[in-house]
Amino acid sequence: MAAVNIDFSQVTDRYIEDAGDAGIALQTDHVNVWYSGTQALKDVTIAIPKNRITAFIGPSGCGKTTLLKCFNRMNDIVSGFRLEGKITLHGEDLYNVSQSPINTRRRIGMVFQQPNPFPMTIYDNLRLPIVENMQGISNSRVRQIISEKLQAANLYEEVKDRLHKSALRLSGGQQQRLCIARSLVLEPEILLLDEPCSALDHISTFKIENLLTDLKKNYTIVIVTHNLQQATRIADHVAFFYQGKIEEQGPAQEVFLKPQSELTANYLHGAY
Ligand SMILES: Nc1ncnc2c1ncn2[C@@H]1O[C@H](COP(=O)(O)OP(=O)(O)OP(=O)(O)O)[C@@H](O)[C@H]1O
Ligand SMILES: [Mg+2]
Repeated sequence: MAAVNIDFSQVTDRYIEDAGDAGIALQTDHVNVWYSGTQALKDVTIAIPKNRITAFIGPSGCGKTTLLKCFNRMNDIVSGFRLEGKITLHGEDLYNVSQSPINTRRRIGMVFQQPNPFPMTIYDNLRLPIVENMQGISNSRVRQIISEKLQAANLYEEVKDRLHKSALRLSGGQQQRLCIARSLVLEPEILLLDEPCSALDHISTFKIENLLTDLKKNYTIVIVTHNLQQATRIADHVAFFYQGKIEEQGPAQEVFLKPQSELTANYLHGAY
């Protein structure tokens, strides 16, 4: 058993500091998911609070990415995928036949583990989703959105003199902030991030953490992280996944400082 040293002193009751409950953005109700014969999620019921950072933690293979992908319907194209139960966004059933997956993905953006800018200029990385989704938009409005979103992603100052250079020349941390900016151009309500810092150094990681803390004023954020220290720094709400189930969930302070489940306590102390 590898003991980990987590400094829990950074966990605060951010619910109280943020002055109140802003309501629920996403809700799952007894969700079960299968990939062909393998059940990946078992009876998952969770409420994702609005304008907060929710961290999904837990050992490898326990269903964290699966639930994230169910939120923006990225599993729809996986053969053998089957979902039972209900997922709602502000009360609307995401899997209702009248909901289009494309519309859902506009409302719920996703950022992946490896930064994945398109092999084109920084400017075009953001321009492309705008012009594809907003027909007839003027060039000046496109420029304005691009500059706003680069600023929102705390990247503008670093790239403003090379907007027309390849995005692939940016550092890994800059590329990840560009991907976050790109996910913001369509004004999503929710931002999903699957281990966004696992390929980044400490400084880039801190920049992303500060950015996410800024962004939660305007967006609801769900992040999967294997970095427990990161979860203690930024999460308001935590869900601990174990073998496809949510074993424990609640405000970060409660889950980290007073875990109710022995499995959670063992995970926090490095048992898996
Ligand atoms: N496309 C797929 N086809 C078949 N099985 C899958 C698929 N994606 C995930 N699984 C299985 O579903 C289970 C949950 O996987 P998932 O990727 O959600 O785990 P995770 O908690 O994100 O793990 P990690 O921390 O390693 O990223 C695993 O058993 C995995 O092998
Ligand atoms: Mg995963």
